[in-house]
Amino acid sequence: MHRDLERILFSESEILAGIDRLSVEVSEVYSGVEFTVVAILKGSCIFVADLVRRLPNPLEMAFVAARSYGDHTTSGELDIDLLPAESELSGRRLLLVDDILDTGRTLFHVRTALLDRGATEVRTCVFLDKPARRVIDIEADFRVFEVEDQFVVGYGLDHAGRYRNLPFVGILRPELIEGDQEAGR
Ligand code: XMP
Repeated sequence: MHRDLERILFSESEILAGIDRLSVEVSEVYSGVEFTVVAILKGSCIFVADLVRRLPNPLEMAFVAARSYGDHTTSGELDIDLLPAESELSGRRLLLVDDILDTGRTLFHVRTALLDRGATEVRTCVFLDKPARRVIDIEADFRVFEVEDQFVVGYGLDHAGRYRNLPFVGILRPELIEGDQEAGR
């Protein structure tokens, strides 16, 4: 285990088994349907790579970047960047993928931006769901695990840009979180 972690929440094998289960659900819903997986950078990069490789469906991929300012206990400003061109979205069904659904602001605002650019449908898929922190009334159509109100890192999730490369998810030692000014994406 990494020395900055209090404990491991999901091991690598638990994560991959969870994504196996999720990919069956997703592939059934999109059976016979063309769609585009839109991954929110940076946090979902590892999750989306594992997810799409388990989907036999014909699909395209696109990316969008979102970043919020403020520490992880407050809701700060949200910047959405690198939105795909309208030609990639118009008339398409989209599966919007993020690392964690927390207050709901990111998923809500990115989904709205994608619909404004002509997507016909946006379903949502998250690796982790933290319902205790929800501020906006939004639920994911697909999720792998629910977590309690603890700051987690690993498997794409960062703190101050670090820990994304850990193959498991762990709870960061609380003393390392204090003074945080930016929730990285
Ligand atoms: P919202 O609040 O918009 O937030 O649903 C989603 C984004 O917040 C970040 N976030 C976390 N990042 N550990 C992290 O590493 C956490 O426990 C955590 N909670 C929220 C994350 O970037 C996510 O995309």
